[in-house]
Amino acid sequence: MIKAVRGTRDLLPPETALWNFVEKTVREVFRAYNFHEIRTPIFEETQLFARSVGEETDIVSKEMFTWEDGADPADFVLQREWVIRHMGQTSPVENLPPPQASIPRGRAARTLYVIQNGHPALVRFKYGPTAQDIRQLAKDGLSWQGVDKLQLLLVTLVDTIPPALKPLAEQQGVKLEEITVEGFEVPQSLTLRPENTAGVVRAYIEHKLEQRGLNKLYYIGPQFRRERPQKGRYRQFYQIGAEVIGPASAGSESPARDAEILELLTTLLDRLGIKNWNLELNSVGCANDRVAYNEALRKALEPVAANMCADCQRRAVTNPLRVFDCKVPADQPIIETLPRIGEFLDEPCRQHFEQVQTILKSVGVDFQINSRLVRGLDYYTRTAFEFTHGALGAQNAILGGGRYDGLSESLGGPAAPGIGFAIGEDRLVLALQESANAVQIKPDVYIAPLGAGMNSEAAKLARELRRQDLVVELGDESFRLKKSFETATKLGARLILIVGENEIKANAFALKNLDTGKQTSVPRAELASKIQVSA
Ligand code: HAM
Repeated sequence: MIKAVRGTRDLLPPETALWNFVEKTVREVFRAYNFHEIRTPIFEETQLFARSVGEETDIVSKEMFTWEDGADPADFVLQREWVIRHMGQTSPVENLPPPQASIPRGRAARTLYVIQNGHPALVRFKYGPTAQDIRQLAKDGLSWQGVDKLQLLLVTLVDTIPPALKPLAEQQGVKLEEITVEGFEVPQSLTLRPENTAGVVRAYIEHKLEQRGLNKLYYIGPQFRRERPQKGRYRQFYQIGAEVIGPASAGSESPARDAEILELLTTLLDRLGIKNWNLELNSVGCANDRVAYNEALRKALEPVAANMCADCQRRAVTNPLRVFDCKVPADQPIIETLPRIGEFLDEPCRQHFEQVQTILKSVGVDFQINSRLVRGLDYYTRTAFEFTHGALGAQNAILGGGRYDGLSESLGGPAAPGIGFAIGEDRLVLALQESANAVQIKPDVYIAPLGAGMNSEAAKLARELRRQDLVVELGDESFRLKKSFETATKLGARLILIVGENEIKANAFALKNLDTGKQTSVPRAELASKIQVSA
């Protein structure tokens, strides 16, 4: 039997009614706050996420669903070209053993190792390598025991090695080689979106949305992360998100926007009937503060990093802020001692954060400052926040968000400060689950055709009633009356309408209330209004 893939799931009725209730309610709230819907593609170029969410984040380094589009011919030609140059063979590719399984996980899993004469001689990346890839390569190279004078060589298509990586490669003893393959395009690396902010900012730049001033956009849709599935954590999950983005002259940078977003969220949760949430707030500062803070973190981590997990050891050097994402229990006491970003905020950032808090207090939104909250994505600046919910267990973050004032520029766009959030819809529904029955849609009436030829009459009647906005379920003329009653009861219909020979002649129908057992004869013209009042 073919089953749904691990980490994905089918949403079935009646649960889907709850999802629809949630989506309908949030659309109404977005409307009240003048947000408009945006729909971006479900897959994008891999580089978009690598550059916005960040190479060192768990999302990009471990969790993305990435594939090469149109890659094979170029792979083959690149491989052949390299072998011809270095070995003088004319058609050597067929003689090479198949590429060995790669050692690294995640992004680097797209690395191929070709073993030549028993030695790993060619390592190739299907798209531009990163600092992490180069370090990984150097590390793997050292672990290939018994290989003398192994030249670690990284071959890529031209233009895929960022110039900044060249000194690092040299320092790590990795030789870089760029090959042009005439007539072949560089294969495109594509990724299922792990989140939607990057796509929205890409669309903002691509469609010059700055010309519209302040953009208030929202989205509802699936996202994909290769995480270990558990309750509240899936590989395909749904987000309801919003982004406020525009030129600073349109007010996008104002603390009023941050407060509006947070106040919107509390209205939304109230409207859905979600209680017992907790809003955690922090400011992660701007690029200015980050230089000094990163330096302080590196310094603090230097003497202790060796006692931390492998991820933290790497992050301590490459992107120390990401150490705060660590979930390893043994590392937590060390992380607890690290300097907090709050101590490094410059005056404008400090004031911005204070103003956000002032407005929140004045509108009566409760929050707690969590000075360790940095959020697991690199693009955040200034305000960062999370709402947690007690009933959710380990995966208790029901939503998260923050400011990303430099993101548009880092993707080659105009300066466009922005702030947004994404709610995990799966988790929101989990928090609401107990009330599932309350929002389930049940038929207003069940039509029971009685006897041969009555299906057509019943269909006509159903069409009339449905066009008057009633929820109608239709039986079949082959059913005995008893079966029709049972089916209607099972569906939760409160009324059953009997359509038989006599009823058609009289143009009046037997309408029975299944709760009270009361039956009346109702003229055709009065049916809709009668059902409306009694359903
Ligand atoms: P995020 O914190 O990565 O932020 O995700 C937001 C929410 O999505 C989480 O709080 C959680 O409820 C839900 N979520 C994340 N991963 C999973 C999963 N594997 N299964 C179920 N639910 C999950 C972002 O995605 C940012 N783009 C938010 C944002 C928008 N920041 C600014 N604008």
